[in-house]
Amino acid sequence: PRTVSRAEAGHLEIGGVSVTDLAAEHGTPAYLLDEDDLRARCRDFAAAFADCDVYYAGKSFLCKAVVRIVDEEGLHLDVCSGGELAVALAAGFPAERMGFHGNNKSISELRRALEAGVGRIIVDSFDEIDRLTELSEKMNKRPDVLVRVTVGVEAHTHEFIATAHEDQKFGFSLAGGSAFQAAVKILDEGVLELKGLHSHIGSQIFDTSGFEVAARRVLELQAQIRDARGVELEDLDLGGGFGIAYTTQDDPSTPGDLAKRLHKIVESECELASLRKPRLSIEPGRAIVGPAVLTLYEVGTVKDVDGIRTYVSVDGGMSDNIRTALYDASYSATVAGRASSAEPLLARVVGKHCESGDIVVKDEFLPADVQPGDLLAVPGTGAYCRSMASNYNHVPRPPVVAVRDGASRVIVRRETEADLLALDVG
Ligand code: LLP
Repeated sequence: PRTVSRAEAGHLEIGGVSVTDLAAEHGTPAYLLDEDDLRARCRDFAAAFADCDVYYAGKSFLCKAVVRIVDEEGLHLDVCSGGELAVALAAGFPAERMGFHGNNKSISELRRALEAGVGRIIVDSFDEIDRLTELSEKMNKRPDVLVRVTVGVEAHTHEFIATAHEDQKFGFSLAGGSAFQAAVKILDEGVLELKGLHSHIGSQIFDTSGFEVAARRVLELQAQIRDARGVELEDLDLGGGFGIAYTTQDDPSTPGDLAKRLHKIVESECELASLRKPRLSIEPGRAIVGPAVLTLYEVGTVKDVDGIRTYVSVDGGMSDNIRTALYDASYSATVAGRASSAEPLLARVVGKHCESGDIVVKDEFLPADVQPGDLLAVPGTGAYCRSMASNYNHVPRPPVVAVRDGASRVIVRRETEADLLALDVG
């Protein structure tokens, strides 16, 4: 995060507060959110995509305080479940600035979205179109919808988070013709308002050519729909997925670069097909909240295993960050509470859970004098860490603490054992 710096005494500071003080006040592990950094990222996207709509992808991390920040910074919001919709509404986010996603939205979720007046629903299957059509007729509504198109791009990212290749659960296939059929069905039935097409090719993507191919293919479909039904669709959503730097080897594009490239390809494709340029929208999650958070842990044990490797165990692990175990994701770690002039030591940072895959940072050089009681910071944990956190081994989930201008406030409190027991009613 941008307000993180190393003070003279050697400890890290975030938002003008030392991590030592934050650990003393809020305990560890804790997710520390640099509020200025989050706001700056919202603003960077809003400015770069000024004539577009930027939907913050709430699945990356959502709580009421973040919803309010996203609202204050003028972004739209992408929700993908009844739960996310409920958080957004509880925080007072205007429903008309929300988009609702999901490959298996239930009837009650769709009903709630219609009742609330959600701005657009991104339809993902023929079953959903039927369900939504029936509900809309019953409720006397005419929701704006986008058709999610699977464009057949092989995104260069982990297989579990790539979403545009043909053989997966999301969207309507472009190559197989179902995307065209879905659009035509909606137009012919005339109950839902077909606003446009949507494509999301995957997550943590650095090579922007995938977005360009996706845009080109979706616009070809748009031209096909125009030719078949004489309708010019107004909106084009190119999804999220913009990669962030987890380690110094990663080199992400800036929002400005992304905007330039996307506009250019859309403009040239529209010119080729004599299409009116649709209003663009994007749905970044990770690129907005990912870099704004670091997780602060305390080291509990340091174990040298027969000279093979040093394991540094922290007081959290795969329950607060499943990404290393699930996607083989790379993170970095640093001793955060003090300076050290000790030699670097190649270590593995692991959690406290009962399995050996419970790795937070696979390989990191830590000072050789790393010891129990040290604070360890792992940056870049804003996206898909708290939102994918679990209670594995009945470990309570850490709090989210927002820090700004020398002051901290808890925005999601730490779970307690009482919280866990409260659900256990047997
Ligand atoms: N729009 C749609 C339709 C999506 O499915 C997603 C992410 C996004 C936007 C936001 O993508 P982002 O800009 O955050 O990359 N849990 C995985 C990532 C799953 C992404 C799911 N969809 C991870 O930890 O890497």
